[in-house]
Amino acid sequence: MHSFTETLLAWYEAYGRDLPWRHTRDPYAIWLSEIILQQTRIAQGQAYWERFMEAYPDVRSLAAASEDEVLRLWQGLGYYSRARNLHAAARQIAELGHFPDTLEGIRALKGVGDYTAAAIGSIAFGLPAAVVDGNVYRVLSRHFGISTPVGSTAAKKEFTERAQALLPPDRAADFNQGMMDFGAIQCTPASPACLTCPLADSCVALATGQVENLPVKEKGPAVQTRRFDYIYLRFQGRTAIRRRGSGGIWQGLWEPLVCDQRLPAPADDGGCFPRHPLGRFAPSACDQGIPDAEQGTGIFPKGLKALRKNVKHQLTHRTLLADFYLWEPQEEPALPPGYIWIEEAELDRYAKPRLFELLLETVSRNG
Ligand code: ADE
Repeated sequence: MHSFTETLLAWYEAYGRDLPWRHTRDPYAIWLSEIILQQTRIAQGQAYWERFMEAYPDVRSLAAASEDEVLRLWQGLGYYSRARNLHAAARQIAELGHFPDTLEGIRALKGVGDYTAAAIGSIAFGLPAAVVDGNVYRVLSRHFGISTPVGSTAAKKEFTERAQALLPPDRAADFNQGMMDFGAIQCTPASPACLTCPLADSCVALATGQVENLPVKEKGPAVQTRRFDYIYLRFQGRTAIRRRGSGGIWQGLWEPLVCDQRLPAPADDGGCFPRHPLGRFAPSACDQGIPDAEQGTGIFPKGLKALRKNVKHQLTHRTLLADFYLWEPQEEPALPPGYIWIEEAELDRYAKPRLFELLLETVSRNG
């Protein structure tokens, strides 16, 4: 066994985190933890894992749930495609009759990529497959002084081969989880704990003063900013929401009146409000668009109350900036296509994107 591997396994035994899904070999529980942890920190993800295990203790109960129920339980975790895929995969597994126990079988589940397949395969079934993610890139690039920019196909191949060569086939689960924990606790992105590191003696980056410079990151595409106006409509204790159709990150979730500022402003408008607030609902909030307010055929919210400007919501590849408005018309307005009236007291029953939750918090403070 490579001395790196021996030291890492000893470190994991001493300092590995005690997490609830590490006390089971149930592939369902392990799969659920890996999907949640794909884009969520353990501190936040653990409570959701517990909630899901309680609501759906096995794959059959998850498969029997509706997508709406699953989305609601997922609410607050973000990246909702994970929840939709989780639900779809539960149905795949239920149909199969058992949890797949080969790497190919696990990889064929919706929402499972190379990393997640290796994690589930090794932890639940002891399959000798190395996980490769940001932690692994960092630990290996520093320890072995590898400066291939991560993010490229070449890097993925190189680091996968390295990790695979170091992985002890009979202790794949411990090795993989050791790498995850070592990257999260000891060999952290900023201020790694080199002084107490058991691998310091053989660390190339430490010996050559390159710890801060590794791993080398390839510049990704610039993060784009998208602007929205979110309007909370209140009329006689009711509000208007719409379920988003297929496609996009918010598929299946409910949204309030939204003005998507990507659409061109009328020449004299200079901004979405106050003159043409609903003139630019299309296509984000209503598929056919809404007649122009100034021509008198549409609804024109006079007296919109601005609640908050530039509310920021950061996604991996996109920054969302929203302005929040409250609209309390005197007369019942016609709604854009697709919208329904619901009682405000019923809002809890609808799964919502984070920005909508923030709008509701703002309205309840100001409204
Ligand atoms: N991140 C992703 N999967 C994990 C796991 N099984 N343990 C700790 N962190 C993780």
